[in-house]
Amino acid sequence: MQKNEIPVIAIDGPSASGKGTIAQLVAKKLAFHYLDSGALYRLIALKALQSHADILDKDLLTNIARDLNVIFNDEEIILDDRIVTKEIRSEQCGILASQIAAYPQVREALTKRQRTFRQLPGLITDGRDMGSVIFPDAVLKIFLTASPEVRAQRRHKQLIEKGINANITDLLQDIQKRDERDSNRSVAPLQQSADARLLDTTLLSISQAQDTVLSWYNEIFAKNSSLNVN
Ligand code: DC
Repeated sequence: MQKNEIPVIAIDGPSASGKGTIAQLVAKKLAFHYLDSGALYRLIALKALQSHADILDKDLLTNIARDLNVIFNDEEIILDDRIVTKEIRSEQCGILASQIAAYPQVREALTKRQRTFRQLPGLITDGRDMGSVIFPDAVLKIFLTASPEVRAQRRHKQLIEKGINANITDLLQDIQKRDERDSNRSVAPLQQSADARLLDTTLLSISQAQDTVLSWYNEIFAKNSSLNVN
């Protein structure tokens, strides 16, 4: 099988929309590989913070992106032999990641690495440009979103559960700022592409959203029983 025949499900959408949670659940259900592309931008942000890098130094940030020594081990993310799974989820890393992600050369440096995740039996990935730029031939493209208020509530719950302090009003402001920056940048902006299906989870439970993705996938492969799930 050619690499470009390996099925990819691309889920793009704004911050805290729940795309990571849904993507991971569907990955388990289909036994697909999973790529959290946002984690790559967050890892660059973490390295930049650790080394007190100048956020305006595009070349330095591009080098960090190219040389990232990261291992995705099931649900654990290991950077330079250190587990950073929780650390990269901080709002500080998220905000910095969004700034760094606006640099075209940083995005370019991550392109090849992201495509290596396309392995049999398939890949499900989430981010901002998975369907539009990294995997334009994905079999299923989804734009997953929810209202900013619901996203702030979900992010708040998620952070508190992880033992990270958070204020819901600040989170809503951060989310709105991040949406604006991610949507208005010149390269790979956050937007629903014409060939992506809209999944608004404002009023959906996690399991309803998961079932929708699985039913769309099954629908696409209805004629190909070898790729079906029950
Ligand atoms: O999905 P996330 O919140 O973990 O992503 C963190 C930031 O990284 C987000 O604000 C924008 C950026 N990002 C991106 O530009 N392209 C991607 N494919 C994934 C994330």
